[in-house]
Amino acid sequence: MSKLVTIFGGSGFVGRYIAQRMAREGWRVRVAVRRPNEALFVKTYGAVGQVEPVFCNIRDDALVAAALAGADAVVNCVGTFDRGGRNSFDAVQVAGAGRIARAAAAAGAAHLVQISAIGADPAGASLYAQTKGAGEAAVLAAFPGAVILRPSVIFGTEDGFFNRFAGMARLGPILPLVGGKTLFQPVYVDDVAAAAVAGALGRAPAGVYELGGPETGSLEDLVHRMLGLIRRRRLVVNLPFALGNVLGTALDFASALTGGLIPNKVLTRDQVTSLRSDNVVSVGARGLSDLGIEPTPMAAILPDYLWRYRPSGQFAAIKESAKNLKKA
Ligand SMILES: NC(=O)c1ccc[n+]([C@@H]2O[C@H](COP(=O)([O-])OP(=O)(O)OC[C@H]3O[C@@H](n4cnc5c(N)ncnc54)[C@H](OP(=O)(O)O)[C@@H]3O)[C@@H](O)[C@H]2O)c1
Repeated sequence: MSKLVTIFGGSGFVGRYIAQRMAREGWRVRVAVRRPNEALFVKTYGAVGQVEPVFCNIRDDALVAAALAGADAVVNCVGTFDRGGRNSFDAVQVAGAGRIARAAAAAGAAHLVQISAIGADPAGASLYAQTKGAGEAAVLAAFPGAVILRPSVIFGTEDGFFNRFAGMARLGPILPLVGGKTLFQPVYVDDVAAAAVAGALGRAPAGVYELGGPETGSLEDLVHRMLGLIRRRRLVVNLPFALGNVLGTALDFASALTGGLIPNKVLTRDQVTSLRSDNVVSVGARGLSDLGIEPTPMAAILPDYLWRYRPSGQFAAIKESAKNLKKA
């Protein structure tokens, strides 16, 4: 019987790349999510029955234990930006992560990979950083041999970073930013997946790895780069943090007023706090190179999915080459 990996959040942006890689390694893959009916696409990653979505909420002991039955390796990709509600930072990123680690140890899994984030620190400024840090501590207390991956912002076809700013650029001539000078080191989603697979297969020594791509840039630089690729000129306005705080608080309040029915997916106050700190790999940290992974440059990937935000979509390249013909 081939080995079994349980991937919590295996239908999400990062989890699906890990599921594909584990299936290619010949493992059976159990994708544990709250909405398995919306995760049926993961079945196509392997042979019939090799990759199976199952119902699980990481807030529930019994569901987590059932999802881990017989698992040889475990990957936890569940994270949140929600401050309150049932799926709050504490419930998901601290209690949920700890629950998975305890259940993985009890089930006798050999390897556990926890996806955290750069800046994770129980004493960090934002609740996101604090709960990612407390989550790491809870994981290590129950499963000391865990591999913890801390990526910078992640890019790839389904990302919530370049896609979000490219979508905003379609709306009008001005593109407002908060934290424009903050540095990021975008890392390709499949490189993060390769690191997670190294951990799940036992090829990565236990401990913390910070994952960044080959290039570092400020948020403003990255947005200008994206604008060049989508062939749109926009006035990029860097808003002061104080104004960002007012906006974040107002949007959080509006979401709370509707009882979370209209979630704040634009900008939370906690995100504004996070944006005050650079999001790059620390000096001396272990990273992709220690796992034998060469980071993929943005230039190799971004044009492949950002073309759809160009004014003439897939026809932009034809139009550009026709213009050159006219000139000739
Ligand atoms: N994306 C980035 O740029 C980035 C950067 C640094 C770190 N990270 C971290 O990387 C991890 C993966 O991020 P992502 O962008 O792939 O997230 P994502 O796309 O939002 O995926 C989240 C996954 O978790 C599942 N999920 C959510 N709540 C759950 C719960 N209570 N119980 C069980 N499953 C649940 C979701 O499926 P259902 O909704 O069906 O449950 C989905 O499969 C997170 O820990 C995130 O903090 C991401």
